[in-house]
Amino acid sequence: MHTPRIVEILQQGQPGTNVLINGWIRTKRELKDFTFLEVNDGSCLSNLQVILESGLPDYTNLVKQLTLGAAVGIKGELVASPGKEQKIELKATAIEIYGASNPETYPLQKKRHSFEFLRTMGHLRTRTNSLGAVMRVRNACANAIHQFFQSRGFLWIHTPIITANDCEGAGELFTVTSLDLNNLPKTENHQEVDYSQDFFGRHAYLTVSGQLQAEVMACTFSQVYTFGPTFRAENSNTSRHLAEFWMVEPEMAFCDLLGNQDLAEAFLKHIFKTVLEQCLEDLEFFNQRIDQTVLATAENIINNQFERITYTEAIALLAKAGRKFEYPVDWGVDLQSEHERYLAEELFKKPVIVTDYPANIKAFYMRLNDDLQTVAAMDVLAPKIGEIIGGSQREERLEVLERRIQAQGMSPEELWWYLDLRRYGTVPHAGFGLGFERLVQFMTGMGNIRDVIPFPRTPLSAEF
Ligand code: 4AD
Ligand code: MG
Repeated sequence: MHTPRIVEILQQGQPGTNVLINGWIRTKRELKDFTFLEVNDGSCLSNLQVILESGLPDYTNLVKQLTLGAAVGIKGELVASPGKEQKIELKATAIEIYGASNPETYPLQKKRHSFEFLRTMGHLRTRTNSLGAVMRVRNACANAIHQFFQSRGFLWIHTPIITANDCEGAGELFTVTSLDLNNLPKTENHQEVDYSQDFFGRHAYLTVSGQLQAEVMACTFSQVYTFGPTFRAENSNTSRHLAEFWMVEPEMAFCDLLGNQDLAEAFLKHIFKTVLEQCLEDLEFFNQRIDQTVLATAENIINNQFERITYTEAIALLAKAGRKFEYPVDWGVDLQSEHERYLAEELFKKPVIVTDYPANIKAFYMRLNDDLQTVAAMDVLAPKIGEIIGGSQREERLEVLERRIQAQGMSPEELWWYLDLRRYGTVPHAGFGLGFERLVQFMTGMGNIRDVIPFPRTPLSAEF
């Protein structure tokens, strides 16, 4: 017997067809001569309505066992639905209960739950409409990302998760060790842990970014991208920070800051366009239930050019915003989330690419501009989210790069292999990193980043 997914039935199921469907019961409604079930298998937001007639063998006993959350296989015939809600429904002829679910204790009773509560039910929360829709949109985004790069001939490369470098130089690293934490080997002066005795013979970390290795690969394959997990031990308990998040990092040889901006803009447009086509039902749900600007935002991204301004222009715009920000807006200090959101959300009402930040507040690898004060950096700022992409043209000049590394108190010796790229066939090159969860947040309108990743990792929280 044909075993279609529910999405298939709802889109193209023909009355008169016999099918077997598998899924979990979302609701049950008992009437005098019938029982209605709503069954969901995760393939789409909508449930399939199933009708059980009281003439079915062992009807009363069966209906008692068909409870919220139970896993079932239902055979029957598709029939045109007299109801307005759906075109097609399933008239059951036989039901198998794979796994019962005690309705007294099932944690997801049929009522609206807060996202905070659902976070305590990480193993069940994707069975709700909103978290289910998030995961489908997340999947569609990932697929659209690969499609975008693959169609342009970029090589997908796999950068290491364990690394010895702090790419961003921000000191937000998780240590990876196999040393006995209760009996740590110490250096001769007994002051510090002796990592030369550790597994890798040196202090190793979880990566904060695959960029440095992506640059290596771009200097062979010209156009590459990474898409993998990254880790930051930054103790920021905000709605936009995770300790473990996924990052997409394209890196292009023979490319400057302008080409980098063009790619970032085309990239976001492609993702929104694709996901809007593939996940319309889910996005309509978000638009209705979570944030009424979701669909308009998608159209806005697809149809309008992003604004492009320099950091210096951004500071001037903030200075004349006619409002008091919590953090100061002086040339030389980094933009805070409130500044980013003002620019994208209120002033331009669309994504803004800010370029050419002060050298002092940006990472060592960014290319020094001719003014010697700023670097060829770019951040893409999105309404509601703030920074969604961070990137730059890279410093390809050996001496300048060595000076920048030293100025930031880092050691050129440790980065000898990175510097070698500037010794042997150096090229202008550029790239960026997209925070994947911030993208999903932006697309769905979900308020908290913890609700757009299946199993969030944040300070004091790593259950499930
Ligand atoms: O701006 P970031 O730190 O840039 C880099 O790591 C570069 N090496 C990327 C590159 O040029 N290849 O991080 C990139 C993006 C940010 O714009 C943000 O969207 C996201 O990663 N991000 C986070 N997302 C969730 N939780 C966090 N703690 C994040 N930190 C950064
Ligand atoms: Mg950044």
